[in-house]
Amino acid sequence: MTLKGLVLSGGAGTRLRPITHTSAKQLVPVANKPVLFYGLEALRDAGVTDIGIVVGDTQDEIEAAVGDGSALGISATYIRQEAPLGLAHAVLTAEEFLGDSSFVMYLGDNLLRDGITALVDQFRRGECDALIQLQRVPDPESYGVAELDGDRVVRLVEKPAEPASDLALVGVYMFTPAIFDSAKAISPSARGELEITDAIQHLIDSGLRVDPHEVTGWWKDTGRLDDMLEANRLILDVLPARMDGEVRDSVIEGRVVLEEGARVIDSSVRGPAIIGAGAVVENAYIGPYSAISPGVTVRNAEVEHSILLADSRIEDLDARVESSLVGRGTTIRRGTERPRAYRFMVGDSSEIKLA
Ligand code: TTP
Repeated sequence: MTLKGLVLSGGAGTRLRPITHTSAKQLVPVANKPVLFYGLEALRDAGVTDIGIVVGDTQDEIEAAVGDGSALGISATYIRQEAPLGLAHAVLTAEEFLGDSSFVMYLGDNLLRDGITALVDQFRRGECDALIQLQRVPDPESYGVAELDGDRVVRLVEKPAEPASDLALVGVYMFTPAIFDSAKAISPSARGELEITDAIQHLIDSGLRVDPHEVTGWWKDTGRLDDMLEANRLILDVLPARMDGEVRDSVIEGRVVLEEGARVIDSSVRGPAIIGAGAVVENAYIGPYSAISPGVTVRNAEVEHSILLADSRIEDLDARVESSLVGRGTTIRRGTERPRAYRFMVGDSSEIKLA
């Protein structure tokens, strides 16, 4: 069975503002690699290489990062969704690309430790019309929730007030072309989106077979800051150490990746952490679960459990920067001007917490 891939990389990204005012949330790096790349690699590893990428306003940036996909071992086709009108709407937008192929749909900001090979293999057996990934969660009311009868899915409810199970829908789905008729048959939900849960429920109500596939390893939807930081932690926890940069008069402890051209001078780095190409860490402390992108400067400052995007600067701070996501080219530093005061030049929807 030849399968195509559909990776959703449009959307509004409201929960990750202000980062998403200027860039795609799927390109925020987790352990210095765009979150989207982990998904594309998971598809490739499952043998799915003909991949349509649904894009919205951030199309140019996504295209610049992924290109034709050959560097990732896939072939990428870009499909423009005029507005983020829902996951089922994204499926309909891709109808021409998908044609009569069955396909795997992957939400471009999701990460799964164990990839999707087991899911794809189950679907390839050809026993069902759709296969959905599920994971047990402690707070099912925050997710799309599935109700099972034996080994069949019988009902899906989006963020139920009183969940009938603790099985949350993970952001990867397998469909046959039957999904198109269902996506066309449903109406927008209260939030104005064509919901994939409604489309799958329509499949079930039409008598088609929807099977569950339970995920065992961790799964993260990186749509919010805390989740992004947690994904960064989970990936850094398994990243092998590598020392390609320069270390001078410094202490390196634990598992640290130092990319070529990175310089650590008079500093202390405690892994797991990654420091990207050309970054400069001087008279500083980089603590566990930090991902320092290429071109960043951390000088006379301490950073821990944070993601610093490319070319940002953290300088001359008294308190440690912690649990933070710092946008590209952003500078956070102590000024020397008098009177002493907080002086900001901050973008829309930003959040600053002072100790
Ligand atoms: P979500 O994270 O559910 O939605 P969103 O990106 O609009 O974010 P927020 O709720 O913070 O505003 O979307 C999951 C993935 O699917 C994500 O990678 C964006 C993508 N997507 C589309 O490509 N098209 C769409 O119409 C929607 C709703 C999402």
